[in-house]
Amino acid sequence: MPTNTSERGEESTATRRAVLEAAGAGSAVGAMATLFSTGAAATDVDPEPASGGDDLFDVERTARAVFPQSVASGGPTPAGAIVWTRIDEAAYEANEPVGLQVTPAPDDSTPNEAADFSTDTQHFRVPAAELAPGDDYTLSVDLDGELDADRFYFYRFVFDGDASPVGRLRTLPEPDADPDRLKLACASCNRYEQGYYGAFAHMAREDADYIVHLGDFIYEYGGSGDFPGRGIQLPSGKGVAHTLEDFRHLHRTYRGDELMQSALERHTFVMTWDDHEIVNNRWWNYEEGYPNTTSHPYGDDPEKMRQLYVEGIAALVEYLPFRVDYDPDAEELFDRFELYRRFRFGGLAEILMTDERLYRSPPPEDEFGQRDTATPPSREADDPDRTMLGTEQREWFVDGVTSSPATWKIWGNSVLNAALKTTNLGEQGSFYLNYDAWDGYEYERQLIMGELKREARSRGQALNLVTLTGDMHAYVAGYLKTDYREPERQAPFPGAEKSRVGVEFMSPGVSSDSLGEASPTPADLEEDAVEAAVESQNPHIEWFNWSRSGYTTIEFTDDGAVYTAYEVDRSVDAADASKRLLRAYRVPEGEVELQELSGSRTDVTSATSSATDVDATEEASDD
Ligand SMILES: [Fe+2]
Repeated sequence: MPTNTSERGEESTATRRAVLEAAGAGSAVGAMATLFSTGAAATDVDPEPASGGDDLFDVERTARAVFPQSVASGGPTPAGAIVWTRIDEAAYEANEPVGLQVTPAPDDSTPNEAADFSTDTQHFRVPAAELAPGDDYTLSVDLDGELDADRFYFYRFVFDGDASPVGRLRTLPEPDADPDRLKLACASCNRYEQGYYGAFAHMAREDADYIVHLGDFIYEYGGSGDFPGRGIQLPSGKGVAHTLEDFRHLHRTYRGDELMQSALERHTFVMTWDDHEIVNNRWWNYEEGYPNTTSHPYGDDPEKMRQLYVEGIAALVEYLPFRVDYDPDAEELFDRFELYRRFRFGGLAEILMTDERLYRSPPPEDEFGQRDTATPPSREADDPDRTMLGTEQREWFVDGVTSSPATWKIWGNSVLNAALKTTNLGEQGSFYLNYDAWDGYEYERQLIMGELKREARSRGQALNLVTLTGDMHAYVAGYLKTDYREPERQAPFPGAEKSRVGVEFMSPGVSSDSLGEASPTPADLEEDAVEAAVESQNPHIEWFNWSRSGYTTIEFTDDGAVYTAYEVDRSVDAADASKRLLRAYRVPEGEVELQELSGSRTDVTSATSSATDVDATEEASDD
């Protein structure tokens, strides 16, 4: 399979899409059957004549029904991006090629609907064989090498006279360019049954360069929804995904949502995954060489778990515009799918997206053998053999952060890196909230932070490390440190800042139940009392909010980075679901310092936002 692992950087060639033979998919034949599967790289296309040349590009109408999951883009490079669509099964014709039109956007504010494909348009022909029932009628086209750097483009697919909705993509600047600004909208945790996607509609309207998705793009669950129209019936009839068809059904369902589509049509995605793209709280069993979990009936069956991964990953690369190394013929899962990579935004920033699920060893167990509950601090987390990233990825990451010439190093990190103790006021004292996050991997966390701190000390200046995190269905603004267990070195004690390495900003769930809603708490405890207690128990955390859903933005310039946290109502299925600014922080360049923006706690609704004296409110007035 065409993969390029020599440099997991901007220029790598994507290997995309699975074609799983139906015979092997989901059957009890097991992992071996899928080794006969074929696979396809994202289609590389050559330009057609400027006019399009033939009637392939004669558009009779725009037909959303022919493209029920609309379009999407991801995996930007300085010379392109991956663009994606899916043809409805009923509209599919076996020998029909697909046309793709791409035209520069006149500026960064022209709406997609105003795209003009009559002039200055590149035409590409995608051979009919690239669109196949075996890929569930999905199509990924890699435009790397075809486009100019640092530009927005409009694109659309054409199939048998029907045009798709218009999408917009953004290429990266050249590595030696000097862009003024990078703005990211950040999202995680889109559980379909638990809410609507108004947050995605608001992200669509952000003047962002990219959307960074930090994992849990889908959840593996079926079941009745908490809101009308949000139930999911898995083809297998089970409560959690068991088969390729289950995973495909989940992706089709999530991506059928028009509010989610609006964000994917408008912005290019940069993504990592977390656990739920396959199964809850998963890790790698290194002793026996298979992926493990306690959250699935297959959990302790090596062959069935491998098969579950094969099929979940196959659906993932069919459906998401990921730039990953993917080889569906590889026997070993580690050789089959490699997600972690970096995206260089000129001299301003470098985004490093890590994979915190495929290579992780199991988190520590509590005294009852549970691995995913609040747990008293355990020496087990200090085990030097316990890893979140795996040795190869960890070295790649540390090297990437310490060697990048970019001003800002942005870590796309799916699970919370900073320590988080809860305030259990009983006899047992404080608990770590979640050993499934970095608290369960204390040794490796200290190893990484120690190396980054040493580099900063040797330079005599901060590395400008900003960590973006999802997973926990909460908002966090805090500091990353070399050691969280030395209270005398933490604020408000003198010298607390000396152990700081960078900052961490969490994005809440888009639609998943918030942590507070999902947590049993004493009925007489107010929401903000818990939050204040968590902040006091964890002096490195400046802000903790566990009761809301929405999204965040972060804007980088030469002077600083501004994180802005929004709540969006997930109980209404509307593009104008109410939106409220919750908090905003600024990090000055060259310092590891969180400055709360004054006035950022002002309530702002989507319809009536008005400018005040904070940068953050400009972002709130996007609609
Ligand atoms: Fe989640």
